[in-house]
Amino acid sequence: MIPHSRPTITENDIKSVSEVMRSGCIVQGEKVRQFEEKLASFIGVKGGIATSSGTSALHLALMVLGVGKEDEVILPTYVCTAPLNAIYYIGAKPILADINEDDFNISAMDVERKLTKKTRAIIVPHLFGLPADMKEILRLGIPVIEDCAQSIGATIRHPASGIRYPASGIWHPVGSLGALSICSFYATKLLATGEGGMVLSNDEELLSRIQDLRDYDEKDDFKVRFNYKMSNIEAAFGLSQLEKLPSFIKRRKEIARKYSSAFSGCDFSIPSVYENREHIFYRYVVRVHNKAGKFIDDIQNKGIECRRPVYKPLHHYLSCGDFPVADKVYKDAVSIPIYPSLSDEDVDYIIETVGGIS
Ligand SMILES: Cc1ncc(COP(=O)(O)O)c(C=O)c1O
Repeated sequence: MIPHSRPTITENDIKSVSEVMRSGCIVQGEKVRQFEEKLASFIGVKGGIATSSGTSALHLALMVLGVGKEDEVILPTYVCTAPLNAIYYIGAKPILADINEDDFNISAMDVERKLTKKTRAIIVPHLFGLPADMKEILRLGIPVIEDCAQSIGATIRHPASGIRYPASGIWHPVGSLGALSICSFYATKLLATGEGGMVLSNDEELLSRIQDLRDYDEKDDFKVRFNYKMSNIEAAFGLSQLEKLPSFIKRRKEIARKYSSAFSGCDFSIPSVYENREHIFYRYVVRVHNKAGKFIDDIQNKGIECRRPVYKPLHHYLSCGDFPVADKVYKDAVSIPIYPSLSDEDVDYIIETVGGIS
């Protein structure tokens, strides 16, 4: 069986982790500091604070933005439950928005419709490796948390806009445009540490508050703080993976190009390509018109594990509202294996099998 996703672990990762183990300095320390510095510089922001997961990173990001119990936070309905959990940790009210049919990302138009006086933040996941249209979202003037769990390393080109973007024509990494951004380094993410996350920002004041909240020990005052720390073991793994991230992304894009050229004549739709947004293919998602379940089963029977890219839209759990686009995408969308450690033989077999099934 070709698994749907799998981490790409090299001898160098094993060596980096072993060195930390041998040193005995296994808790949060120098390796964590280095990982924070290197990733912040990769994304092009002033700093990062490493955490135990993407979910804890989201929790801390919402806390330092001052989101409270009476406040509303807008998020797309078509995403995993992690951002929803983080909003409930705060006790705030989640407000779901529908997505765009073409890019699966949060619909700026629906967000605008759902703004109220109580809206304190918008969580914008860049889903499946494709950046969301940040220009339209930032225009709304509400603090944005960019959720880069699925898109670290992707870039956006900004036309001149007069908002708060840097100069026109430059490609900007996702995670450098919101008030804060978060990453996840879960085992099958673009960059893996097993479990782990980070909050990144240009705002040093917010970062120092996150640093304080991440750890409860040896503080002069008492307030509720967390044990959301990352260990040196995970950070050493992360540092070694970060060196390979550009080559990981190159391989993902190469596989995606092969899939798209092979599947262009098939009777399912392939991912759209955008001039101003770089897709780094965390997921390769095809649309099979109302038969995602059958398509997944048929391919599974031939030894390839495919998945629905989002397990269930959030409004299905909360039984609220009308989200026609997310419902349609949910019925159609199938994620096909794509990761750097897929061999050329695996890729060829996937092309032959998926292409033949439609
Ligand atoms: C879009 C998105 N946000 C947040 C998370 C949460 O990350 P973690 O599993 O590290 O808590 C995930 C993880 O799958 C995710 O896909």
